[in-house]
Amino acid sequence: MSQRTFETILLETDETGIATLKINRPDKLNALNSRVLSELETAMKEVNSDEAIRVLLITGAGEKAFVAGADIKELNTLNKETGEMLASRGQKIFDAVENSKKPIIAIVNGYALGGGAELAMACHIRVATENALIGLPEVSLGLIPGYGGTQRLPALVGKSKAMEMILTGKPIKADAALQSGLVSAVLSIEEALEYAKKLAGAIMKNGPLALSAAIEAVNASGRANGFAREAVLFSELCETEDFTEGTSAFLEKRNAQFKGK
Ligand code: COA
Repeated sequence: MSQRTFETILLETDETGIATLKINRPDKLNALNSRVLSELETAMKEVNSDEAIRVLLITGAGEKAFVAGADIKELNTLNKETGEMLASRGQKIFDAVENSKKPIIAIVNGYALGGGAELAMACHIRVATENALIGLPEVSLGLIPGYGGTQRLPALVGKSKAMEMILTGKPIKADAALQSGLVSAVLSIEEALEYAKKLAGAIMKNGPLALSAAIEAVNASGRANGFAREAVLFSELCETEDFTEGTSAFLEKRNAQFKGK
């Protein structure tokens, strides 16, 4: 088990290659201030460059919140110029989450509002605890989601449901999030971590290069070049040792030994 401690983030990696990144400001319901964003950016770089990490879990400290949004104290003083800078910065960091080469599972353990919902949506898979409440309440602050929420929510739940959530600003409960496809499972707080680790374990059985390519290809879906990008990534994988090993292992009725090459 290795541990990396930031001021507002805890990053822990177990011996199997599952890392857990915890946003750690429980007294402010893990709200994303400038320090959390910077540390998240640094942590994402470390996760992607650390060969010991195979899958990342992101969650919030405490039992009440995943992340209750951008820090409203900081939002309060924004003007046109600083607002543009903040949205661009948040988008860039959440893009790094979405485009991570390693699979990322969000464990949405309570409030996931505004920037919290946007962070969860940037992850590749979302698992919610029964007390989760997910929503984009920015219009209630006279704003709109600025860290990618207006783009990612329609892709996940469809335009009509996304419009309803964004225009009312009302969060939805875990069951409704499951029904609309925003999360893929709902579990008790006690079970959620184990479930996410099982998912991570199932993912880690597969070739790392194929996982990275799958993330890139799925992320390209819905974009103009999605099909073309999928074909290019598919063809590139055909040149890898993992591809030869994976297909050979199947034909030889044995488990594949992937090397990430
Ligand atoms: N930004 C800054 N501080 C926040 C915050 C946010 N997004 N969300 C919660 N906090 C702080 C509160 O100010 C409070 O701090 P204090 O103890 O110093 O007063 C602390 O976290 C606990 O929150 P509190 O409101 O007392 O908890 P609650 O259980 O009564 O309510 C929420 C929980 C999530 C309903 C409520 O905190 C809330 O509405 N937060 C804002 C959600 C939001 O609009 N997010 C989108 C921002 S774009």
